[in-house]
Amino acid sequence: MQDSNTMLEGRGLSKRFGDLTAVDGVSVAVRRGQITVLLGENGAGKSTYIKMLNGTLKPNGGAVYFEGQEAKFGSARHAVKRKIHTIYQNFALIDLFTVEENMRLTFPDKSAEELEKMIEQYGKAVDLDERVALLPAGIKQRLEITRALGSDAKVLLLDEPTSVLAYEERDRLFKDLARLGQERGLGILIATHKLQDVMDYCQEVVVLKGGRLVLEKPVRDTNLKELTVAMFGASEELEKAPVEAGPPSESEVVLEVRNLSVRGDNVPMAVKDVSFSIHKGEILGVIAIAGNGQLELADAVYGLRKPLKGEVAPGLAILKAGRKLRMGRVAFASDDPVQMGLAIDLSVRDNFGVSLLDQMSKGSLVDWKALEEFSKRAIDKFEIKCYTQEESLRELSGGNIQKVLVARELSRDVDVLIAVHPARGLDLHTTYLVYKNILEMARRGVSVLLISEDVDEALYLSDRLGAMYEGELSEVKAKPLWTREALGSFMTGAHVMRGEAKA
Ligand SMILES: Nc1ncnc2c1ncn2[C@@H]1O[C@H](COP(=O)(O)OP(=O)(O)OP(=O)(O)O)[C@@H](O)[C@H]1O
Ligand SMILES: [Mg+2]
Repeated sequence: MQDSNTMLEGRGLSKRFGDLTAVDGVSVAVRRGQITVLLGENGAGKSTYIKMLNGTLKPNGGAVYFEGQEAKFGSARHAVKRKIHTIYQNFALIDLFTVEENMRLTFPDKSAEELEKMIEQYGKAVDLDERVALLPAGIKQRLEITRALGSDAKVLLLDEPTSVLAYEERDRLFKDLARLGQERGLGILIATHKLQDVMDYCQEVVVLKGGRLVLEKPVRDTNLKELTVAMFGASEELEKAPVEAGPPSESEVVLEVRNLSVRGDNVPMAVKDVSFSIHKGEILGVIAIAGNGQLELADAVYGLRKPLKGEVAPGLAILKAGRKLRMGRVAFASDDPVQMGLAIDLSVRDNFGVSLLDQMSKGSLVDWKALEEFSKRAIDKFEIKCYTQEESLRELSGGNIQKVLVARELSRDVDVLIAVHPARGLDLHTTYLVYKNILEMARRGVSVLLISEDVDEALYLSDRLGAMYEGELSEVKAKPLWTREALGSFMTGAHVMRGEAKA
């Protein structure tokens, strides 16, 4: 391991939080011109390891070496001074600032043209006056990488860089990183739980499980099966969800979207004249690349955005039951825990309580016992890793925080579930757990609107689906009537370039 290409190295690093050993004597080397992957399921210790490498966390054992010398960074800022940059899953950009203002924080002396050139060098042009809050994740990430490389980074540490990216963006990121790594002799370490991130562009893989190093190999000497077994233990088949026939197509309609147009934050119309209906117990998938209006569509169906035109109306199934289509009977699960109503300082249990109070109270009295039992079941069912249900969310790993939200929304008694890439950021095992629960919900009669950026996910879960491109929805067809090519063609706008009408 001690070769001259080693730039940054953790030797026998350990980290304990109370009784929990999050990382247990793990050595990882980041080498010049190479991409090393730190692979592991949710809670394996990846983020903790990165934080020890960059000085955010002080190890309980072992030491960090940089360019052959023991390094005591003390803080991530100190590591940045030594040209070690970290890019976190939740970006460190200031949302309210424009692109230019954000870049100026790092490069106060560069002219606007110079900044523009820098950004273009690592990808396509971005409008300097755009507010960062309005940019797609792929572009935000590009800005962060630009910032790091513009400051002559020697080492890049990326924590789950692809979990916020659509497939094309992901491929592009890896291509760029591989190229930059070669050209500039960068050492790159990527923490991920996605096997597909490992195989194509990376050289070395280290697998963590429960804080221990369980496998370390050149990527060319391993394969998907070996890595899966290393990550998840025994070669258990990942439970595939039961593939049963979908709901009878003549089942009653629960929700109808008619000619819906919705304003966007940065475009006058993000959703353009979209119509579809969802039957009882049906999963309707909408697949699109990030930024094509699918989030605005989900918001409008949930009632968070007022339509410019058209409406979201209850179907016969709701009307017959003498009910209204109301927010309280619609669950909303997405991959953005902060935005979607998790309180990071509250406990796991109280986060369940927040939106289940109607089910968990008698008059104005909270039924703590019911809430505790609910929490216990949800923690078991979704394998949420926490000491007790009173532990605050702040102490959980990123994936486990997301599980709390998904578990809550997937356990509610509702008519409709809106699931917006509900499994993004989760490892494979947990992803199937979430899929299984969504399928079970649908089989119980809940109607599901699935918004996805992943063709495999959309095809796996949906009974019927359509693709969205620049606010327009394709025809919604039963799954067997679609091919991947047809979906991809609509999602990327190839149909428009070929001058075809809606699929
Ligand atoms: N500040 C903390 N206090 C207590 N426990 C913590 C703290 N930070 C992390 N942990 C625990 O350490 C373990 C490893 O967490 P870590 O965030 O490193 O996992 P990860 O591999 O990055 O997971 P994910 O893919 O979900 O982001 C988890 O069990 C987590 O709950
Ligand atoms: Mg993490």
